[in-house]
Amino acid sequence: MIGAGIVTMSYIAATVLFILALGGLSNPETARRGNWYGIAGMTIALLATILGVVTQQYVILLVALLIGGSIGLVLARRVQMTQMPELVAILHSLVGLAAVMVGFASFMDPDAHFEGIEHTIHDIEIYVGILIGAVTFSGSVIAFGKLSGRIGGKPMTLPGRHLFNLGLLIGAIWFGREFVLQSAAGGGLEPLMIMTAIALLFGIHMVMAIGGADMPVVVSMLNSYSGWAAAATGFMLSNDLLIVTGALVGSSGAILSYIMCRAMNRKFLAVIAGGFGTGGGTVASGGDAEQGEVVPIEAHEMAALLAHAKEVMIVPGYGMAVAQAQHIVNEITGALRAKGINVRFGIHPVAGRMPGHMNVLLAEARVPYDIVFEMDEVNEDFPDVDVTIVIGANDIVNPSAQEEPDSPIAGMPVLEVWKGKITIVMKRSMATGYAGVQNPLFFKENTRMLFGDAKDSLDAVFKAL
Ligand code: TAP
Repeated sequence: MIGAGIVTMSYIAATVLFILALGGLSNPETARRGNWYGIAGMTIALLATILGVVTQQYVILLVALLIGGSIGLVLARRVQMTQMPELVAILHSLVGLAAVMVGFASFMDPDAHFEGIEHTIHDIEIYVGILIGAVTFSGSVIAFGKLSGRIGGKPMTLPGRHLFNLGLLIGAIWFGREFVLQSAAGGGLEPLMIMTAIALLFGIHMVMAIGGADMPVVVSMLNSYSGWAAAATGFMLSNDLLIVTGALVGSSGAILSYIMCRAMNRKFLAVIAGGFGTGGGTVASGGDAEQGEVVPIEAHEMAALLAHAKEVMIVPGYGMAVAQAQHIVNEITGALRAKGINVRFGIHPVAGRMPGHMNVLLAEARVPYDIVFEMDEVNEDFPDVDVTIVIGANDIVNPSAQEEPDSPIAGMPVLEVWKGKITIVMKRSMATGYAGVQNPLFFKENTRMLFGDAKDSLDAVFKAL
């Protein structure tokens, strides 16, 4: 319906729009525009592919688009903000599954005629595409299970797991060679299927071995894998746009993984090797004896402390997302600023359950960007802060990361809220956070605990203010 020239032009336009989208998404102020660039790029890409590349089977295409589009629409409308990470994980699994299916379809395509070296290259593209796709698929399904609490967060560490992984890797290479040789002689399905099983097993084993505390890296790592799976599919189908888009996702996911590792003071290879972070348990830090007393506080007392403060720092965490307290946080911020109190937000890079989780919530509630700071920008300022409010955060403000070398979160940089004059921790109970470790912050002399749902408590504080 449209010529190859127009398709190429559209693909270039879409590529530029995707790059602009990524650029826009790197800053909260331009993120909305970045999203629109992405939507425009994807629309152009879809239209060019439907009208210029697909030349038959429009009915099947339409039915598939309708089914896929409806599922996407329903899921996007239903999903709670707190379920976003698991949604992202399951979407990554679909990219992996698509790469596997396209790989097998491409291998069995009766219309594909490649000769000599071209045949070998095409076989390698198929093999690599299915390999990455299958690892992405099974790894993402397990990540979905862990993030949604269907599978426990504890790392599953088999004895000799590194040897097991090495065996799988050698197996994958061996069957790759077999596949290329057999495929040249007209066969190859068997080694391809064995490799797919190996890759699926590897994906399951890799993510099962990663403990709760390392899940942020897993989320971004699978994001990266899904990109490389899409790029490999692009090679199989000789589709330049898919190659470029996959590479963009793959490399930005890799950069994000690096940022996450740095934020948690972990080495990427150590994360992949697994076994870190207990997840979900109740590992006590230093035993109950030395932990001391907890000092509770009421909402009206917190309001009084705030009203007399000059410097206030707010540290939000996963609990703010659960309570959906971001809007009342914004109202309180406005009220305090109207009294001339300097209010700032300190955001930990892995606060919440996905990269940028807190920034998205605060932007949604229209908290001004210029008072929202990254951890490194404010961490030295706590001694000058009169009142620090920790809203539903736990692991990211846990001093044992610095003080206890045996802690599962040892070495992870944390917001040093205990150095402030008074720190008010808002949560519902004494329960542990995501990493399952007890938090000595709750027992410090200058800490006050305001128990209850964060939104209910903040509503009461706002009234009292
Ligand atoms: P957490 O350590 O998970 O602590 C959240 C706290 O919020 C809990 O202790 C919980 O205590 C409290 N809470 C839950 N619902 C609440 C409500 N309705 N009202 C008030 N409080 C509530 O969160 P964090 O400090 O944000 O740390 C993030 C953790 O998640 C890190 O361990 C990080 O590694 C991990 N993680 C992060 C990501 C990314 S990419 N950000 C991805 C996966 C995992 P109560 O039950 O007592 O209320």
